[in-house]
Amino acid sequence: MDKFVINGRKKLHGEVEVSGAKNATLPIMAATLLAKGRSILRNVPYLNDIKMMAHLLRVVGARVDFHDNVLEIDTTNANYFEAPYELVNKMRASIYVMGPLLARFGQTKVSFPGGCAIGTRPVDLHLEAMEALGAKIEIDHGYINANCKEMKGNKIHFSKVSVGATANAIMAAVLATGETNIYNAAVEPEIGSLIDFLNLMGARIEGKDTSHPIITGVSELKPADMEMMPDRIEAGTFLIAGAITKSEITVSNCIPEHIQALIDKMEDAGCLFEILGDCIRIFPSTTIKPVNIVTQPYPDFPTDLQAQFLTLMSLADGQCLMEDTIFPDRFMHVAELNRLNANISMRGNVATINGVEYLSSTDVMATDLRASAALVLAGLAAQGKTTISRIYHIDRGYDKIEQKLSGLGADIERISG
Ligand code: UD1
Repeated sequence: MDKFVINGRKKLHGEVEVSGAKNATLPIMAATLLAKGRSILRNVPYLNDIKMMAHLLRVVGARVDFHDNVLEIDTTNANYFEAPYELVNKMRASIYVMGPLLARFGQTKVSFPGGCAIGTRPVDLHLEAMEALGAKIEIDHGYINANCKEMKGNKIHFSKVSVGATANAIMAAVLATGETNIYNAAVEPEIGSLIDFLNLMGARIEGKDTSHPIITGVSELKPADMEMMPDRIEAGTFLIAGAITKSEITVSNCIPEHIQALIDKMEDAGCLFEILGDCIRIFPSTTIKPVNIVTQPYPDFPTDLQAQFLTLMSLADGQCLMEDTIFPDRFMHVAELNRLNANISMRGNVATINGVEYLSSTDVMATDLRASAALVLAGLAAQGKTTISRIYHIDRGYDKIEQKLSGLGADIERISG
């Protein structure tokens, strides 16, 4: 297993370009299964999760080529409708094939995803949506068997905002007969980008960026060609890298409004920004002020930036609280940050962070994707040499992060295991 070795306290400078968004690309890859033919996705990041989804599409019979950040997915011969345990187990987003396979083939068999490092993560809302559209669901030996002769539009009321269930419901409804109204849908930008792709395929979806999308079923879809949107979580992570090292850097190729909640909180913490088109420049600030955070669905503060912001707050001038309402157990990084001299205590899903003057280096272990990013940020700020093991987690979601950070002047090296 590879490791990162970081010699901290180097000032960063220059510009870093954000890659395409993993969380936008994954559902769109699944959506290509809704039509027969060759779809093209551009600006796709080289990430293990993307490779895993490509593998899953091949398992169901699609041809997938991935070169120069372009994914060509030919679904002409896709004819198999099972997502096996070995893949779903490694990547929860595999559940995204359920809606499209059900819509196209009238049946699917998807392994029940288990728990993961950030908590239990149920799929009840996905299943309720499929049932609302007419599917019969049976759980058998760890697999979800879904069958439906004809998907029929319906009203779907989500009791909780779920990105994944919203995406699956929309993908299952585009080929259904009649109209589907989704209430309390997720409005994350990645859902908007999925709607754009589906409409390019010939779907009829209105209410993009609202919590009530309306889908009018069509009889057939065609392949499409689209550029993937920039990764807002990667953009946010680099801005925090600038703040935690008290450096001036520019994060380019991003959509600033997608991370407005982060920018607002960073301004409260004393950070200064200049926004020019798709570039955000952050300027060094002398102190980091403590700021309380509660994670919520978009457009509020994202759970996917909780660990990184918590790392920034570990160096704040005072005490603050961080509550994760989306994934209450997503605090595995706290124990590792405390090994780096942070002073954070947990009570349920609330972290109390007492800012310290400095982080000091040691060996730490990455536990999940965003927790790994938090440890990298801590390593950039810590005195001395920090070694982070199990960085395969970070390779799931950050494209060439060590090269991008080195380009900004960080002293970070990947040691192959
Ligand atoms: C997606 C993102 C993940 C992000 C999360 C929340 C992808 C591939 N992953 O995950 O990075 O952290 O959104 O923004 O895009 N829930 C249920 N029942 C369900 C589904 C979800 O109770 O059937 C709960 C979850 O446990 C959680 C909340 O709903 O408490 C939100 O989860 P959800 O939005 O579904 O997350 P994912 O789509 O899995």
